[in-house]
Order: sequence, then C-alpha cells, then structure tokens
Amino acid sequence: MNVQLSSVFLLAVIALSSAHMCLVEPKQRGSIMGLDKEGADDCILLNGPCGGRMMEEPMTMFKSGGNFTVIIQKNLDHWAKATPGFFGINLMHGSATRTLTTVPDMGEPSLTLYTAMGQIPMGFTGPAVLQVTYVTKNPQAPAVFYQCADILIK
Ligand SMILES: *[C@@H]1O[C@H](CO)[C@@H](O)[C@H](O)[C@H]1NC(C)=O
Repeated sequence: MNVQLSSVFLLAVIALSSAHMCLVEPKQRGSIMGLDKEGADDCILLNGPCGGRMMEEPMTMFKSGGNFTVIIQKNLDHWAKATPGFFGINLMHGSATRTLTTVPDMGEPSLTLYTAMGQIPMGFTGPAVLQVTYVTKNPQAPAVFYQCADILIK
C-alpha cells in the first residue's frame, strides 16, 4: 500500500469508529469505563433500544412532573457540518417511548459533557427506562448510538 492509499484507509477506519456516547448521570446500564479517553468501548453501543445491556435495579429516582438533569458525554466526535446530528433524551415506559428533550450536536470536541434538562411528564410512575440516543446523521458514522439507565418515577 502506498502512503496515500493507507491514509485513505486509516481515515475510513476512523470515520467508521467515530461518534461514541456515554450516559454519565444517571449512570448508564453496565460499566462505564475509560471516559477520559476517546473511543471508550463502553460508549459504542449500536443496537437499540439499550445497546444490548441488561436491565438493572433502578438506582435513580425521578419525581413525576419534576425536573430532571441528564449528563451525557460525547466520547468521540464525528459531527458532520452539512447534516448535524443531535442527542435525544427519551422516556421508555411500558410500550410507550416519548422524547423528553433533544440537544443539538454543534460540533463540540470529543469528551465534551452535555447537560440536558427537562420535565418528567405526569402519569408515568413506576419503573421506567431513560434512553439516550446520539443520532449522528453522518453517512460516514453509525446512524445511532444508544445508552439506557433504569429509573424509578414516583
Ligand atoms: C424546574 O424547571 C423550571 C424551568 O427551568 C424552573 O422554573 C423551576 O423552578 C424548576 N423547579 C424546580 C422544583 O426545581
């Protein structure tokens, strides 16, 4: 492989492995390791709705109708200027999923923390799942990254 070809290959590999995302608060299902480095394994979950991670005992309680704060890490950036993506904060309760809020990806660097705030709607008490998605809208990256946290709404 000549130098030019191998750098094209390298770029393709980087593009494909880009745009990782982790859910810091409430803590995501399963492990959350190596966040100080770009490309952490725990931040590349590609299968909906929860990256294939098993349900856990809820460790975080939210108040029905109350405010929430969610902290997400963009572990690896792959913002596409022409088609910027977003982070979705969704509530899964029974068979219903509703979007609570979204945060635009404005090309912040890897390892940036995003704080999303909003309100837990009334009428969804009991165990629920807070799902966070990173919708990249980048043709060179996976379409959606997933993380979930098991929560209890009272
Ligand atoms: C909830 O958020 C709203 C809007 O940001 C704010 O006005 C209100 O004071 C908050 N309520 C509590 C209990 O923190």
